[in-house]
Amino acid sequence: MGVENPRALVFATTNEEFGDYQANGAMAIAKQLGRNPRTIAQEIVDRAPLADLNAELDIGGPGFINVRLNDLFLATTLSESTLSQRVERAERIVVDYSSPNIAKELHVGHLRSTVIGDALVRLFEFVGHTVIRQNHVGDWGTAFGKLIAYFNTDQEFSDLTIGGIEKLYVAASQEFDTNVDFAEKARNEVIKLQRQDPDTLRTWEYIVQASLEDVQRIYSELDISLKLSDVRGESSYNPVLPSVVNDLDNKGLLVESDGAKCVFVNGFQRKDGSPLPMIVQKSDGGYLYHTTDLAALKHRTQELAADRVIYLTDSRQIHHFRMLFAVGKLVGYIPQEVSTEHLVFGSVLNKDGEPFRTRGGENVLLRELIDEGVERALDIVRSKSGHLTSGEQQQVARQVAVGAIKYADLSKNRTNDYRFDWDVMLSLDGNTAPYLQYAHARICSIFTRAKKDMNEFLEGEIELQHPSERALALRLLRFAETLEQCLDERKPHYLCNYLYEVTVHFMRFYENCPVLKAYTPRLLDSRLCLCSKTAQVLRIGLKNLGISLPLRM
Ligand code: ARG
Repeated sequence: MGVENPRALVFATTNEEFGDYQANGAMAIAKQLGRNPRTIAQEIVDRAPLADLNAELDIGGPGFINVRLNDLFLATTLSESTLSQRVERAERIVVDYSSPNIAKELHVGHLRSTVIGDALVRLFEFVGHTVIRQNHVGDWGTAFGKLIAYFNTDQEFSDLTIGGIEKLYVAASQEFDTNVDFAEKARNEVIKLQRQDPDTLRTWEYIVQASLEDVQRIYSELDISLKLSDVRGESSYNPVLPSVVNDLDNKGLLVESDGAKCVFVNGFQRKDGSPLPMIVQKSDGGYLYHTTDLAALKHRTQELAADRVIYLTDSRQIHHFRMLFAVGKLVGYIPQEVSTEHLVFGSVLNKDGEPFRTRGGENVLLRELIDEGVERALDIVRSKSGHLTSGEQQQVARQVAVGAIKYADLSKNRTNDYRFDWDVMLSLDGNTAPYLQYAHARICSIFTRAKKDMNEFLEGEIELQHPSERALALRLLRFAETLEQCLDERKPHYLCNYLYEVTVHFMRFYENCPVLKAYTPRLLDSRLCLCSKTAQVLRIGLKNLGISLPLRM
């Protein structure tokens, strides 16, 4: 029928007012065919292969198809449902995320790539893809020349922390700008680094190791799945950069311009309309960010045998990646069947909608953010969960704070900016991590009071008596399609919104339907099963977002 996105045909919202699902696909088709949407809707209803669902279908408004599923069908489908999900064709997906420039502490500018990237890799793995994480850290180049030169003038660097290294870098940069001899020395260190001079290399290794230790520490505090073994820094491509230039030359793509080696690609222009080259080697022989990324691309498609390569950075690098992919295709690093994708995201703003910075105008460090979050969460946990020991409170506060930071980010449409507001994100009411965590803890406590094992109620006969049970059941059954949508668009907020909706409907069910005091043992078991399935959706959903759940709150 010429409809490009089949999802549009079936995409349905759940809204009790209209039945269980309301599908708007008929309208899209009618528009394309230039026909009456209600007629199309009627044709779909007449031919829909839904006989065995016992569903009631009717047409509403300008051509919506309203579906009401048979209760028994709904209950049986939910009883038999599991959350395991497998894609038909598993792919090897390289995901380049977080990728900070090191010798600097992780700050808010690194948050979104790290958190969204980590959710996506977990989701890809959950549905059966093979994911290869690549932390393309910036561990090479002029910045290191300055640092190493400064290190050599500074005697005590043996037990420097990352904070200390960052301070040194600031001082080194100042020296670089004001002292010609030092600048010369710094440039020389870059050359020595490229030539693998043992002394220079030793200092460099020391800086890199101290930085990476710190980065890994923050990852583990934030429950980010990147390991040290996922680090493949810019430095690792240094030895193969000449071969990249060779490959370009062999394909006849290299043009020399003012002594620099460049690639010109159709369609890339400067503002004034003149062709914009990708410079791959400067006249002094030095290589650039692009060149390293070409080497990394080659490695990913050839050695790592990726079917897909995904990069997450903010939108300032859109242009870089467009050019990279264009040149990558020309030089043959991106075979036809391999897809490459640059995923961008909006900025983190403060409560007032301005760039999120410290009072002094600096980047807010992730370390400080976590500490503040834990402190704030601890206040809440102390007032709400007096029954926990102080050690338990501390533990819960950590899970709440980290969950809140990650969820506030993930629950917003990736491409939009969002405002970082502690009061909103730590609220126990609303689309927040603590709200979901609290609902889950509540379900756990139902089972504790019943002295029953939650996992034994993942299967069982479900009876849908009250409308709020039916409403919950409908939501629980939409897990798979939500995940699919998330991955189709690489946007975790669909999953967040879904988990929130499930939780809202769970709370309504819990208010309306006695669980432990259900009238019959059969109803008790059915309701425990609804509770257990809700907890499972929350657990698996949040786990795939990298958010952990306290058992008690
Ligand atoms: N280190 C870069 C930065 O901080 C991001 C690297 C992204 N990945 C890449 N392959 N270029 O801006």
